[in-house]
Amino acid sequence: MHDSFPTTARIAGLGCYLPERVLSNHDLERMVDTSDEWITTRTGIKERHVVADDEGLVELVERAGHDAMADAGVEPGDVDLFILATATVEQPIPASSAIVQPRLGVTNAACFDLSAACSGFVYALNVARQFIATGEAKTVLVVGAECLTRYTNWTDRATCVLFGDGAGAVVLEPAEAGDGILQIDWETDGSYADLISMPGGGCRVPPHSREAIDQGLPFIQMRGNETFKVAVRALADISQRVLDSAGVTVDDIDLFIPHQANIRIINAVGSRLGLNGDKVFTNVDRVGNTSAASIPLAMCDAIEQGRMKRGDLVLLTAFGGGLTCGSALVRY
Ligand code: COA
Repeated sequence: MHDSFPTTARIAGLGCYLPERVLSNHDLERMVDTSDEWITTRTGIKERHVVADDEGLVELVERAGHDAMADAGVEPGDVDLFILATATVEQPIPASSAIVQPRLGVTNAACFDLSAACSGFVYALNVARQFIATGEAKTVLVVGAECLTRYTNWTDRATCVLFGDGAGAVVLEPAEAGDGILQIDWETDGSYADLISMPGGGCRVPPHSREAIDQGLPFIQMRGNETFKVAVRALADISQRVLDSAGVTVDDIDLFIPHQANIRIINAVGSRLGLNGDKVFTNVDRVGNTSAASIPLAMCDAIEQGRMKRGDLVLLTAFGGGLTCGSALVRY
């Protein structure tokens, strides 16, 4: 293996939360013109979790964040940086990380939100790693959380079947070379910004404007077919680049955890990388696309199923609106 970062960050604790309410494909059959068979064959999704009426983003973040800190054995007051990766903020001002800070008790932490859509968790890992490597931070809480169903157009069958809600969190602490995040890479290509977007609800088309309401703009829109092709190429390319930079091959890794958007994207990326099916983790059938929460939620499931354990070499790769992508090679 090539030299990894001299000082890096390791995952000291992990926590996850899925809202209790489950929306199955059969439930969706009663809402839009779709079928369980169409959704299953095109996406691999069977069900997704949806926030309760009295829940928002902060309840999800609070549950996952507390579990991650307990798992790491750190007190909330020890956390000196808290990064919340989300595309579905609690409200535009202030940052959702600031709103949830008192509930988490991370009162000594500087807090900010990070917006990189489905790549948000990997982007946040990279930012956290930098702060730890420079000694600016010692204990960082990174949470990927989404309330996508609140931004979903429930009359658009092309998108409403895809998304789910949830949160996943990690606590990062300093580590020596050879442990924790060994390599990490990220990239952005804004020329594809209109592939996945929510064109209303910001300053260009304010949420309260007649145009936004009449044209249904404050909802997620996607050019699914084009997104599919770009996603496969981007996920495979950045994964291979991270493996090459680390001087490892797919044979060396124990588990590949890609962003859970669509089983056909996951399988296509796995075969491009030459990975055996049993090294590719999927839980998209149970959770749908949970954007920034996707990778940590999959990590929790992988641990629960005995597919990931301490010391394993794990490749985490995400792709999302922006377009953004990021990949991290981690000694867990
Ligand atoms: N149920 C039934 N039919 C549906 C449907 C649904 N939920 N959604 C779309 N259709 C129909 C379309 O209207 C179209 O009908 P037509 O041929 O009569 O016009 C047909 O199915 C094919 O639509 P198309 O959009 O070409 O399907 P697709 O094979 O590309 O699958 C996606 C659609 C969204 C599943 C697929 O493009 C995809 O997964 N893209 C990537 C999405 C993604 O993961 N994005 C997030 C990345 S972070």
